[in-house]
Amino acid sequence: MRKKVIAGNWKMNKVLSEAGEFMDSVVPKAPKGNDVEAIVCAPFPFLSKLVEQAKGSEVKVAAQNMHFEDSGAFTGEVSPVMLKDLGVTHVVLGHSERRELFAETNELVNKKTKAAFAHDLTPIVCVGETLDQREANETMNIVGEQVKQAIAGLTNEQVAETIIAYEPVWAIGTGKTATSEQANEVCTEIRKVVAEVTSADVAEKVIIQYGGSVKPANVDELLAQSDIDGALVGGASLDPESFLQLVEAGTK
Ligand code: 13P
Repeated sequence: MRKKVIAGNWKMNKVLSEAGEFMDSVVPKAPKGNDVEAIVCAPFPFLSKLVEQAKGSEVKVAAQNMHFEDSGAFTGEVSPVMLKDLGVTHVVLGHSERRELFAETNELVNKKTKAAFAHDLTPIVCVGETLDQREANETMNIVGEQVKQAIAGLTNEQVAETIIAYEPVWAIGTGKTATSEQANEVCTEIRKVVAEVTSADVAEKVIIQYGGSVKPANVDELLAQSDIDGALVGGASLDPESFLQLVEAGTK
């Protein structure tokens, strides 16, 4: 049985005091045990404080991006070494906003995914099609290629530990959730692609999240699907009570 992984992606929101208040509310109430993992994906300036606040709990802290090099002349960038040193455990890579607004390519996402494993960080690799691509029946070609390229060159063990987040671009921040059947259909295909390039055993282990307008009202139905193992949540993860409800849903 795969565990459920609920990750809140705050994107570029909150200031430090608000981030601290969120953790004060969430950390004492977060469920314990092996059924569900709760991850807070926060902006870089908050990470150090949030890791401190999460100590002694099972809440994990993630970055929303990173560079693939360890160090060097890359003004404005943050390296995997820096994240690891802070106690960050996960990193979101290839989010559609980074692909669209910051021109991140599949090749770059692959470099970052390899760099994450080189520093013992768990990558949450985002994939997903645009509305135009869905309407042109290209969803599986696009998503399959994104998955293949992201995990190229990883060992089977590393692929098994990768978290893949299927986030249809048309469902992000729009209030339009993919139906649970639509979401599951693509997650099932993603697992098949993973099986093709690794093995059935690895594909059985890999955690596949759905993301795109997930909220407490629709999370149960999404998590009940055969191939959806969690959620990557934007808007509904900003409020501590809402985030806790989403994490609770993962224990059912
Ligand atoms: P929303 O939940 O706000 O639609 O955002 C989804 C997302 O992009 C999470 O990474």
